[in-house]
Order: sequence, then structure tokens, then C-alpha cells
Amino acid sequence: MEYSNIKRWQEAQRAELDWWQNWRRLPFYQNHSFENNRREVLSHFLSPSELNEAHTVVEVGTGPHGFVRYLFDQAAMKIGLDPLLCQFDERPYPNRNTCYVAAVGEFIPVKDAAADLVLCINVLDHVMDAGQILREIRRILKPGGRLLLEVHTFPKIFTPIMFLDHPHTYHWSFAGAIQLVRTAGFRIITSRQFPFPITIPLKSWVTPNHWKYIFGKHFARLSYVYCYPM
Ligand SMILES: C[S@@+](CC[C@H](N)C(=O)[O-])C[C@H]1O[C@@H](n2cnc3c(N)ncnc32)[C@H](O)[C@@H]1O
Repeated sequence: MEYSNIKRWQEAQRAELDWWQNWRRLPFYQNHSFENNRREVLSHFLSPSELNEAHTVVEVGTGPHGFVRYLFDQAAMKIGLDPLLCQFDERPYPNRNTCYVAAVGEFIPVKDAAADLVLCINVLDHVMDAGQILREIRRILKPGGRLLLEVHTFPKIFTPIMFLDHPHTYHWSFAGAIQLVRTAGFRIITSRQFPFPITIPLKSWVTPNHWKYIFGKHFARLSYVYCYPM
């Protein structure tokens, strides 16, 4: 991995930590429930039987409010992995069937073919090497296991200006994300795009710190890919 990639990633991670320290002050997330949001997302992709059969669930880039924190009570083992885990103010704590690991997705400390389900939600534009993370996810999935991936995507036309957005190390188009998944050796079951789920209050138009949310609301999509290793 190139040193310049790591420097860029460290800068992005500082911005990420800052976001999680301040997100409750943002007007877009008032009354936001991570638990409800996570439940709704799963309902779009996993059938009740797929949910029940997810005995070992790994979430790569889990953040403080990940799926493994709120859902999959029936799983035998849940693992939440994130390099910032020890630094989040609202960090989750282990319990009966959930453990957390401060680690990067480029080197997942899980043995081969161990996971029934891997979740990687809004992570691949924050990392050092997105292709390496997908290869690691493929390694830890059981044959027939599933990956649910979510990536923020933008129309390709914006690519030349996206370098201005320092908190993100990658900027994906939908086609680029699909290609990445296929190249890493996954077969796609379904893919879907949703609009950016925030409401912009009027005052945000005169608040420069909020302009990136206005841009996101209009141009970004939450792109989901549900797939399995070939
Ligand atoms: C936008 S947050 C999303 C967190 C969570 N998945 C969610 O949806 O709320 C991106 C997360 O990716 C994590 N991350 C950044 N680089 C990573 C890497 N190389 N491997 C794994 N996770 C990483 C960050 O620490 C951060 O928690």
C-alpha cells in the first residue's frame, strides 16, 4: 500500500471521527433511529429465512451504530470491526454474542470461510484499498454466504471535482461499484439504489457547512448490492 494512500486515509479518518462526535447537532438527523433504519434496510434484501440462517455475522466498518449492535439477536456470533472503535464516544460494547475488533477491513482478523453474512455499509469510500477489502470479505465468507454492501454513489460526470471532498478516499459511480464487486469475485443477486434519506431545512441553504448535504441530497444515491462469492 502506498504511503500517500495511508496519509489520505488518516486524514479521512480524522474527518470521520469528527463527524461521529458531532452528528447529533446536525438538523438532518433529528429523530433518527439507527435501529429502525437498519431493520428497514435488511427487509429490502434478506428474507426471514436468510435472517434466521445468519449464524455468524461480520460487519466491516461497523461504526458506533452498526447492524450488529441492534439486530441479529438470534446469531451465534456477531463481530463488528472498525479501525475507530476505541475512539467513538458512542462506541458499542461486547455482549453475549457480539464482539468488537479495532481493525481494518483490508486485513480482517477472521478465519477463512467462517461467516454466513457480511455487512459493509457506507464504508468503501472511506478506506485505503476497496478491492482488497472485498477480497478479504470473499475469503471469510462461507460458500453460499452473503454480502450486503452499501456504497454512496455519484453520477460519473462529477468525478473530476470529487477530489475536493477530502473526507472520502474514493468516489464511486454505480457502474464503478458494480464492476468492483464483480472483479472481486462476487455474483450479484440484486442491486438497488435509494435517494439520500435526509430532509434539508431552509436554513441549510445559507449554511456553507451544510452545502455538501444539499449536494448529496440531489446527486448521491445509496447503492446496495446483495451478492455471494463465486
Ligand atoms: C461512514 S462510516 C459508516 C459506519 C457504519 N457502517 C454506518 O453505516 O453507520 C464509515 C466507517 O468506515 C470505517 N473505516 C474507514 N476505513 C476503514 C477500513 N480500512 N476498514 C474498515 N473500516 C474502515 C470508519 O472508521 C467508519 O466507521
